[in-house]
Amino acid sequence: MAPAVVIGNGDMAEFEGRITVYVAVCVVIAAFGGLMFGYDIGISGGVTAMDDFLKKFFPAVYERKQHAHENNYCKYDNQYLQLFTSSLYLAALVASFVVSKVCSKYGRKPTMQIASVFFLIGVALTAGGVNIEMVIIGRILLGCGVGFANQAVPLFLSELAPTKIRGALNISFQLFITIGILIANLVNYWASNIHPYGWRISLGLAGIPALVLCFGSFAICETPTSLVERNKVEKGRKILRKIRGVDNVDDEFNSIVNACEMARQVKHPFRKLRKPASRPPLVIAILLQVFQQFTGINAIMFYAPVLFQTVGFGNDAALLSSVITGAINVLSTFVSIYLVDKAGRKILLLEACVQMLLTQGIIGGILMKDLKATDSYLSHGEAVFVVTLVCLFVMGFAWSWGPLGWLIPSGTFPLETRTAGFAFAVSSNMLFTFIIAQAFLSMLCHMQSGIFFFFAAWIVVMGLFTWFLLPETKGVPVDSMVEKVWKQHWL
Ligand code: BGC
Repeated sequence: MAPAVVIGNGDMAEFEGRITVYVAVCVVIAAFGGLMFGYDIGISGGVTAMDDFLKKFFPAVYERKQHAHENNYCKYDNQYLQLFTSSLYLAALVASFVVSKVCSKYGRKPTMQIASVFFLIGVALTAGGVNIEMVIIGRILLGCGVGFANQAVPLFLSELAPTKIRGALNISFQLFITIGILIANLVNYWASNIHPYGWRISLGLAGIPALVLCFGSFAICETPTSLVERNKVEKGRKILRKIRGVDNVDDEFNSIVNACEMARQVKHPFRKLRKPASRPPLVIAILLQVFQQFTGINAIMFYAPVLFQTVGFGNDAALLSSVITGAINVLSTFVSIYLVDKAGRKILLLEACVQMLLTQGIIGGILMKDLKATDSYLSHGEAVFVVTLVCLFVMGFAWSWGPLGWLIPSGTFPLETRTAGFAFAVSSNMLFTFIIAQAFLSMLCHMQSGIFFFFAAWIVVMGLFTWFLLPETKGVPVDSMVEKVWKQHWL
């Protein structure tokens, strides 16, 4: 995800300065926050498919899995098992309400430091878990880390980046997430053969990005915007000179000061968001998040190994298939980076709807026909075909609803409600991610192949929404959104 709330009106302006080594180092360190989030998304599915982990914490699920005649679709249906995955997002949802205040009051850098401390304690508790309570508390702390990092890091990146690479950096955050997911898939593939503590290695390796973020965040600077926002004006100017590598930063600095002044005049941005004029961007930002989750992407990201075992693969093949979907997720994100400002947002979203609708529909059809609840298996050929369809589905998502689900909301609010509006988008995302994580395995058990038609129906709704209601925002400067887009919208 790439939530960049740009405080500053320089989206189209070119200011003096170059991309300094210092900025590059700061960006890389902060990106470990994105990697950390991606790693958490990708790691849980593989861990919950590991027998050693199930034996220790979910012996009933392990027993059921061994049962030859057990219902194919219900092997993993267990509320606690789902809670292992979902608790992180619930905590992130709660944390995201607190964090926008922390971020404004204390700055981006301390917020990232707090995030990394949450991450480190969370990793220690999950990897060292002796009972399920300890593991779930660990996941909750990881979720607090995600809530803190997911607002501070993108804000930090967009405020530090020179304007000409701001857009690319915005999507790059999503890229780091997908890389984190892929690394987690690879780690799971390797660690699943290390008995009996492979799962501890999988969960423990999350400590590496957390450590880099923790120690690295002492080396990075606070952003000029955050310093000016907190009345440290001269320090802000000094830092801006340092990160741009030139002496004359007056134009950019003045734009930051003006933006902060304007933002200060709005005393109650959340109240302002409730006014009728704020509704179109708010509705669009929230709906994009809801739709992004109801594509069913996280059913795949969280539970791919479990899903692939359901269609008949062994443990290793299922984990390997997740590595393949993870790699496709990363590669397809580059397509988005390349096309988003050329082809526009709507065409990417609509094309992906068609691609995702077809793939979900065909997967549902195959499972309905050939994978009955008991005593039936897909042929090897069919199972491979299902994995191919999943790859095509992920590909479509990764160049559209993945990055754009974040990019559009981050640039659709006028300045005075931007941070508050975006906070709503982040919390909606976390809420619906939580719902999918908590419900998917039970839905799979009760709806069986119908779950794929359920997601397909949502894809039809989001396609219609994109076609009729979503305005094209390609090439529209963030601060002209109201005049050029909302006032001219047919509705
Ligand atoms: C979504 C995540 C998802 C990821 C997959 C992000 O844009 O917000 O929920 O897991 O994409 O790459």
